[in-house]
Amino acid sequence: MRFAGKKVLITGGGSGIGAAATEAFLNEGAEVAVFDVIGPEPLMERWKGKKCTVFQVDVSCAEAVDEAVRQLEKQWGVLDVLVNNAGIEFVGAIEEMSEDDWDRVLDINLKGIFLVTKSSLPMLKSVSGVIVNTASQLAIVGAPHFTAYTASKSAVLNFTRSLALEVAKYGIRVNAVCPGAVDTPLLRRQFADGKQGPQGTLEDLIRMHPLMRLGRPEEIAAAILFLSSADASFITGSALVADGGYTSW
Ligand SMILES: NC(=O)c1ccc[n+]([C@@H]2O[C@H](COP(=O)([O-])OP(=O)(O)OC[C@H]3O[C@@H](n4cnc5c(N)ncnc54)[C@H](O)[C@@H]3O)[C@@H](O)[C@H]2O)c1
Repeated sequence: MRFAGKKVLITGGGSGIGAAATEAFLNEGAEVAVFDVIGPEPLMERWKGKKCTVFQVDVSCAEAVDEAVRQLEKQWGVLDVLVNNAGIEFVGAIEEMSEDDWDRVLDINLKGIFLVTKSSLPMLKSVSGVIVNTASQLAIVGAPHFTAYTASKSAVLNFTRSLALEVAKYGIRVNAVCPGAVDTPLLRRQFADGKQGPQGTLEDLIRMHPLMRLGRPEEIAAAILFLSSADASFITGSALVADGGYTSW
């Protein structure tokens, strides 16, 4: 029970990696608030009887974020852990990407982290909390047809480092996790109906991971919980790569 009584906010906690992290924090005694664009009812049902609150929030909308954080502040007053995890992909050649496509990816993957972090900072400061940002292995290496996504994720890494420097004086730690391909709805959408991704088929993508398999959402949740825990008490400004060896070639 590493997180007994701790207050944890997870964005994009309704699916995939975020849902696995929500589950793991709840199992370790935390109270969890989820910010997600998904309607809250199915998620409330999923975690019925557990200490989980779901807010329907678009993290790229400043007003919605501020309002939800204000409600959370009334409820909790403090925040021990913020997991900035909500993210989307646009997969396609640069000629096929509209300005709106580009803005949507950057607004959710990058501006969303800025907005939620800024709004939550007073609550985090009061308890010297922890921030974990979900980046990607594509923050470290490039991939064709992922220009907006890779730009957003590598920006998340340097945001993480700069913020870590800025808030160290409050005892707040800020780190990122860089997953490889993880078996979530986001990944499956790329290959739906026999579609191929820029790296080929799903099997081709799997072969790019030396461990020769996809990651499981629970494995990334474990990395997020480690960075959020007292075991990582001297780790800040770093990126924990959990990519089955993808970036080790
Ligand atoms: N799955 C992978 O292979 C993989 C690899 C590396 C990094 N990531 C990153 O991990 C994170 C989680 O991805 P996932 O694979 O679990 O995806 P997912 O699609 O399963 O889950 C993402 C969640 O974010 C929510 N979301 C989307 N836009 C939002 C918004 N504007 N405001 C609030 N919530 C929003 C979705 O509703 C969903 O519940 C993302 O940041 C993604 O870029 C995923």
